[in-house]
Parts: sequence; C-alpha cells; structure tokens
Amino acid sequence: MKANRLSDRIFHVYANDRRKSLFENMWPLPSGVAYNCYLINDEKTALLDTVELGSVDDFLGVVKDSLGGKTLDYLIINHMEPDHSGEIGNVLKAYPDVTVVGNKFTKKILNHYYGEGFSFLEVKDGDKLALGYHCLQFVFTPMVHWPESMMAYDQTEHILFAQDAFGSFGTLDGNVFDDEIDLSVYEREMRRYYANIVGRYSQHVGKALGKLVDKSISMICPLHGVIWRKNVAHAVSLYDRWSRCEADESVMIVYASMYHNTEAIADYIAYQLSQLGVKNIRVFDVSKTHVSYLLSEAWRCKSIVLGSCAYNAGMHPMMELFCQELKHSGLKNRQLALFGSYSWGGGGLKALKEHCSTLGWEESGAALEIQGKPNAEKLQVFDSFVQSIYSTLKQ
Ligand code: FEO
Repeated sequence: MKANRLSDRIFHVYANDRRKSLFENMWPLPSGVAYNCYLINDEKTALLDTVELGSVDDFLGVVKDSLGGKTLDYLIINHMEPDHSGEIGNVLKAYPDVTVVGNKFTKKILNHYYGEGFSFLEVKDGDKLALGYHCLQFVFTPMVHWPESMMAYDQTEHILFAQDAFGSFGTLDGNVFDDEIDLSVYEREMRRYYANIVGRYSQHVGKALGKLVDKSISMICPLHGVIWRKNVAHAVSLYDRWSRCEADESVMIVYASMYHNTEAIADYIAYQLSQLGVKNIRVFDVSKTHVSYLLSEAWRCKSIVLGSCAYNAGMHPMMELFCQELKHSGLKNRQLALFGSYSWGGGGLKALKEHCSTLGWEESGAALEIQGKPNAEKLQVFDSFVQSIYSTLKQ
C-alpha cells in the first residue's frame, strides 16, 4: 500500500492486487489490477472511495498518514462496487463522525452493505462541496458503471476523479502516471477493461463525456490504472471513440474448430484479405482465447468474421459462448460474415446464423460452409466470400 502526492493537498492511495486471477470472478488478470483512491487534506479532509477489502492490510494506516494528524471529515463514494467500497466498513469504524457523501442511489446500495448508523450527505448532480482551498463539483455518470456512479471534479486544480471511467487492468509498477509508461501497450488492457466492464453502457459513457466537454481537465484520476496528466485529451478521445463503437478498418476472424478444418478456412480468409491489403488482421481460436480478449478485439475491428464447425447438430459450444458475450456487450455498428464446416449432418452454420441474427450488424455477403477437409479446390469457394468482406469493409 502506497500513497503519492499529486499536488500540495491531494494524495493518491493505491493497492496492487497481483493475487486475484479473475476480476469480477470472470476476467483474467495476467498483470493484476490496481485499486486507486484519493485523499484531499484541506481545511476539511475527504477520502474519495476506498479499495477492495483484503487487498491490503494497512489501508487505514496509509489514510492516517496522509491525513497528517487530522480526522477524516468526508468519505465521498463515487462508486459502490466492492472493488472500491470494500474498506468503507473499516473507515466508518475508524472515523465514526465522518460524513459519507453520495447520491440517493449510493445511499440505497450503501445501506444494504453497511446499515444506516452513519451521517450521510446526499448530493445532486452539479452540487458542490467546499473543502477549503479545493471545491469539488459532483457530476452524475449513471451506469458508468453502476446506477450510483458519479465523478467529482475539483474546480480548483481541474482534477477529475473519474471512478471506473478511463481505468484499466494491470498493476501500477512504480510508475503511476501516463507519461511514465508505454501507452501503446497499456491501451490494449485499457480497451479490454472498457469492452468487458464499461462497454455495455457505452450510451451512458457518451452522456458522461457530454457533461465533461466544457470542463478544463488537468488530470484524470480513475479508480484503476494510471493517472492521466499529459495525455488527458487522448484518454478522452479513446473513450469517445469506444463509446461510439468506432473501429479500425480491420478484420478479426474467430473460429471454433475440432480437427483443423474450420481453422484452415479461417487462415485462408485471413491470407486472402491480406492479399487485398487489409492490415492488422487477427485470427483467434475461440477455444484457446479468453472471451475478454475477443471482446476487446471486437471493439477494435470493423469487420468480424465468425466460423464454427458443427457440433451435435449445432455450433461449437465455445463459439456459442462468444456469441452470447457479443450480444451481451451491446457492441454496435459492426460488419459480420459467417462460415463453417461439417463432417456429416451439419447444423453449425445454421445455429451460428440464428445466434447472430439479433446482433443487428451489417452482413458482408452470404454465409458459407463446406463439408469435410478444405483442400485447395474447396477453399476457392471462399474467394467471393472474402471479396464481399473486403467490399463491405471499404464501403
Ligand atoms: Fe472498478 Fe465498477 O468497479
């Protein structure tokens, strides 16, 4: 557990979690995750959010050090998900006179976790809280990522405490600012975080960004990942792009294959697309790639090509899982092409078409499948299929 000074009176308190293997018990964390929170030591003191319970053993000690002998006046809860609210119970015990600050949705959720025996200040969208030198303005950002989610904007130093927005998977390995790391690597995990955690609520992200457009922002302080101070506009532009489901002119091909036949078709399609000049094509085995990485890539690529072998007269169960996640993610404005292979009765492509029919994406030509081993002659039938994908991509 560490604390960094962001400015004279603002501290960044964070915990690195390298032990947890699955975020929300679902999303792999190969590089761990960091829980950030912030403390303002002004005439009045305020802690903005906490960290996941059990992620560190000295959270209160670091808070106490950052307070420098003062008591805690306010506990501001921008987001109630337990990865940020887990230490609230301990804070309430250590500082029984603290005033908890949140909105009416915060209070409802808070009461179900921690009862009602504390002072609560309900704020409305746009309300301000004067701390002395600093003055915070609350910006409600419902469904980014929960209904109670809100941000706090420091009008004094133009710092945005952005809760889940602009965050990422991955620990803070000494460097905590955007200008201290390789952003090209970082942004991959940031996009995976967006696609899997926030992406479903992209419409709400767009509304939240609309509320921030008139604010000068010198620093973005999210609850996960690095603090943005040099590339603030870039971080906002990434979120703007992702929330509008804008994509690169590129193709991802995801296949389910038991005996390499559907895989061979996927490779053929990828090769033919590359011959047409398409860049950054990615091919994934749905059985070997965690769905969180596939969703992240789906957020990057304009064209998504899915192929499944037949399995018990339907599609391969791993492809079915990915299709469900695509549906659940709410990703919009994509182009779709479907293919498959079968050995005897078929049914894979039919099931794939049925599952994808509700996505509402533009179709790039007719779905296509072949029987048995895809030799060179059989693969030629995919040339027009590839041409359709390319033409749609270039529209
Ligand atoms: Fe990082 Fe929605 O919690």
